[in-house]
Parts: sequence; structure tokens; C-alpha cells
Amino acid sequence: MCGIVAYIGHKPAKELLIEGLKRLEYRGYDSAGLALMNGDLQIVKAVGRVANLEAKVAKTKNLHAHMGMAHTRWATHGGVTEPNAHPHTDDKRKICLVHNGIIENYATLKKVLSERGRTFHTETDTEVLATLIGELYEGDIEQAVQAALREVTGAYAIVVWCSDEPETFIAARKGGPLMVGIGNGEYIVASDPSAIVAHTTQAFALEDYNVVKITRDGFRTSTIDNKSVSPKVMQLEMDLEETELGAFEHYMRKEIFEQPNALRTTFRGRIDLNEGRIVLGGVAKFAKELVKARRFTLTAQGTALHAAMIGEYLLEDLAKVPAECEYASEFRYRNPIIEENAVVVAVSQSGETADTLAALQEAKDRGALALGVVNVVGSTIARETDAGVYLRVGPEIGVASTKAFTGQVAVLTMLALYMARRKFMSPYESAQLMRELEKVPDHIERALQADSHIKSVVEKHCAKENWLFLGRGYNYPVALEGALKLKEISYIHAEGMPAAEMKHGPIALINDGMPCVFIANKGRQYDKVMNNIEEVRSRGGHIIAIATEGDDAIRDLANDVIFVPDVPEPLSPMVTVIPLQLMAYHAAVIRGHDVDKPRNLAKSVTVE
Ligand code: F6R
Repeated sequence: MCGIVAYIGHKPAKELLIEGLKRLEYRGYDSAGLALMNGDLQIVKAVGRVANLEAKVAKTKNLHAHMGMAHTRWATHGGVTEPNAHPHTDDKRKICLVHNGIIENYATLKKVLSERGRTFHTETDTEVLATLIGELYEGDIEQAVQAALREVTGAYAIVVWCSDEPETFIAARKGGPLMVGIGNGEYIVASDPSAIVAHTTQAFALEDYNVVKITRDGFRTSTIDNKSVSPKVMQLEMDLEETELGAFEHYMRKEIFEQPNALRTTFRGRIDLNEGRIVLGGVAKFAKELVKARRFTLTAQGTALHAAMIGEYLLEDLAKVPAECEYASEFRYRNPIIEENAVVVAVSQSGETADTLAALQEAKDRGALALGVVNVVGSTIARETDAGVYLRVGPEIGVASTKAFTGQVAVLTMLALYMARRKFMSPYESAQLMRELEKVPDHIERALQADSHIKSVVEKHCAKENWLFLGRGYNYPVALEGALKLKEISYIHAEGMPAAEMKHGPIALINDGMPCVFIANKGRQYDKVMNNIEEVRSRGGHIIAIATEGDDAIRDLANDVIFVPDVPEPLSPMVTVIPLQLMAYHAAVIRGHDVDKPRNLAKSVTVE
């Protein structure tokens, strides 16, 4: 979603801010802007890509400063226009501000401020916040920001500047992530560590309702009620090379092909074949509570929800513990009942998804033990949970999640095996499954070899505007994920559903040549899936089957077959999803779309 970078130090700010914005581009945005402070306030904005802003900045004279703030905007209030892009000022140009999040009571505030004679020139909630700070300013910008934030409801990560205190930034957060990088005589404030690590690896994350006042000489952190707080300074661990495209054309393709090695890293040091046990240091402290757990609730959004659904099946199938999976956005508001010894598992690549974070907090408040299955180290969800297991799949830049999905499923598989072994599973039985688990990266490598065949299958069908994805058991969430991947980057309408559900209505959609993708690898419900394939085929649907190598019988039923290696059923989602990721990728490329930056989408959804 929106991105923030601000700098105060001794380096030329213009280049540094543009470079920082480029590192944030993957998050999704539709306009960008920057403000430079060098005695005067200069603001440049552009609709579209950061490259447009860069070109405009290059044409603007005298943009020299060692202090400035920049922003990529993903429109929420008001259209994608230059005036609506950030930074925003109040009507007196005394206050300048960039903001991620949504000020929910902006309409009321705007009315009150208008009645006091303040004027507005944009449709944004952010301009209202800038004006409110201006209105409350009585000679101390830190106090004015604190006072304004006591008045607002909603989510914010902000950086504020005031012309009366031109060598000072104030930053604050509630909800949206914001970090402060501490360099040598310089500070970088950013919504994402990737904009900081090129300059320093020392940083701290602002907590909710915290405010930081930064000058070249130092910083002070407080709450919005002006109580002093001490931030926890940490070492950022991010290899910038991991965020480079290298020889690949798109990040999504790079990340699809990274999956074998990414999962090897996920498993490293966690599979102990001698003892037949999974080692999860991140949850060891709560091992007893986990064994006693009466119910697991897994919560997430989007692709992470599909991984969580597989986790639900794994926990019941392998660990024999009741589990349920739910959209975080529903869970947080439906007054959920949390019984004694309940565990909630928040699954998230970014660790910043607003609904997932809120669901986690709701469950914690009601007494659940909170676990995180998160990729981004030190992210808000990772910090808010009692314990957790990191994915370790490296930075995911492509907006469409791929390696994080297989990483999430891998971690949830390990969690289920960890529980099973502690509850009842023999070391022998557990070691057998763990041996198979260790082979999954090799199976993914093999599944990736079907890339050009998959492309040729997609070429035949990608002009079709409606697709179905069908599967049973573990393959039902995989079908949902296949449909989501296809729709989000190729803009083809796709639906995923349990194969048996089709007869209850959706079968009416089947017409001549409609692509119907069946995840039909060998498993407990294989024969039933074959029946479902017959039903669709007899109504003219075009069957594309994901099948187990060696299953020659399926060739007679399906129009196109994509084979994957034979994998034990509980481990199969990490392999059967690979052709679906590649199908979506090829469909988007063939249809000429921007694979890594699909329209309207953001990498991390930090507003609800
Ligand atoms: C789809 C996708 C999204 C995310 C969802 C949750 O490809 O990436 O559906 O999975 O927004 O994001 P995280 O995992 O960061 O909580």
C-alpha cells in the first residue's frame, strides 16, 4: 500500500528519497510525491510511476536539500490526481505531512475546521490531518502532533514537518508500520525496512500511539500523551541483493522459481530425523500449552488464508486437534467465542495486514495464546504474537504471493507434525513423513520443469474470460489459490470451489470450452474427483487436470494434463500449486499485463 520515506542528514535528499521510493514500488501505488526542505518548502508530485516523479524532479530547478519526505499513494479518499498525491500541507503551508492509513473521522474534523475558517484543496483525509495539526500548533510541533493524534480515529503512519521548526521531523504511528533507521548523523524514516538498509542496519519500529521527534542531533520517543518511551533498537537483516531482479523478467517468476531453495531454508535445522521430531525454537517456550490446546483458530486474508485453510486440514488430519480457519476481517467483528486453552494462529507474509493484526489482538484480548506464521522479521504481527515460526523464504516483492504461500504451508505442516509427535505419533511414523517433507523442494523443482508445457496449455485458453478451479480435500484450498492467482494478475474471472459443490449451482455456468482446472492428483478422494471431471466434461467443459506422474488413465478424461510428482497427500499442496502459479503468470504475460504490479492491488494491505 502507500509507502513513506523521509530523510534528515548530510546526504543529498532528492536522490536518496527517489531511490527509497523505488524500493517501495512493489507495495503497490498509483501516484507519488516528495517535499524538500532547505529553508523553503518545495513539493513535486506526479500521477503514475515513481519514474514519472523522477522525470519531473529532474526538470525542477534548485531542488537541493539534506532533508525531505516522500510518498507513494494508493488512493483511498479521492481520485488518483496530483493534488490528492502526498505530501500535503495545511492551507497556510506551515505544516507538511505524508500519511499512510485512513483517518476515519476526517469528515467531522473537516467540518469543524471549515467552520473555523480553514480551507481545503484536495479530497483527502490526509489534508485534514495536516490542517488539524496546523490548527492545534501553538509553538511546539511535537505537542501539536500529539494533540491532533488524540483527536483522530483510524490508522496512521505519518511524518510531519513545520516551517517554524525547519530542522525537525515528527513521526508517529497507529496501525501502519513505520521504522526509524539510525545512521551516522542521519535518520531515515520509512514504512518498510527495504528503504532503510542501503543506509543503515540499526533501526527501531515505532509502536502504536508512539511519536518520535527527530533532529540531526538525536531523537526522543513518547506516546501521544507525552509519556516518554524507550524504543528497542534492532539490527535489520536484509540482503539487498535478494530484492534485485537478476536475470528474471519479473519478480513473480523469480519467486516461483526460488521456491525449492526457499523451502530448503524454511526446513533447515528444523527437521531432526534421528529423533523423529520437528524443532521449532520459536514456539518451544509454549510446548506444554500447545499440547493442551483444545482448538486452533487460523486467521488470515487472501493467499495467506488459503495456506491457513491447508493448515486447518493438516492440524486435524495429522495432529488430531480441532482446527478452524477464518477470514480475519470476519473473525475480528463477529464476537468470537474463545474457549480455555485456545490457540490462534495469524498467518501473514508481510506481518502488517490490518485485519489479520486486529483479529489476532481480538483473540489475545479474549485469552487465546497467539502464534504467528510470518515472513517479515520484526513486523507488527511478529511482535504482537506470544510466539511464532518465521517462513524464512526471503523478501517477496511480486504483489502476487507465491513463495510465501508454499512457505506458509511448509511451516504449518511442521507445526502439525510438531504437535502430532508430542501428542501421539511415534518417532518412526513421524520420521517417515519428515523424510518426505525434506524431499518436497526436489519435487517442486521437478514440477517447475513443466513450465513450457504449461505455457502452451495457457496459450490455448487465455482468451477465455471465465475459468473454474476445482478440488477436494487438501486440493480445495489449492483450487481457491489457483483461481485467486489467475484473477489478480491476468484479470480473468476465475472461481475456485470444492469439486462436489459444483453440482449445487455452478455447473450451470459450464458451456462449450470453458476451462475447468481440476486438481486431481492421487489421494483419498481421487475416484470422486474423476466422477466430477466426467460431469463437467459431458457438459462441454474443457478439462485441464493437474495429475500425478504415471496416472495414464486421466489422459482419457482430460483435454490437457499437467503432471506433478507423486507426493504424500498432506504434503501435496506445496507441489500441486506450482503449475497453478505458472498458469497465472503465463496468462498475465500473454495478455500483456504488468505481472508484478497488478491494477488496484497493493503488496501489504495496512488498512481494513
Ligand atoms: C495474493 C496476495 C494477498 C495476500 C493478502 C495477505 O497474491 O498476496 O491475497 O496474501 O493480502 O497478505 P499477508 O500475507 O501479507 O498478510
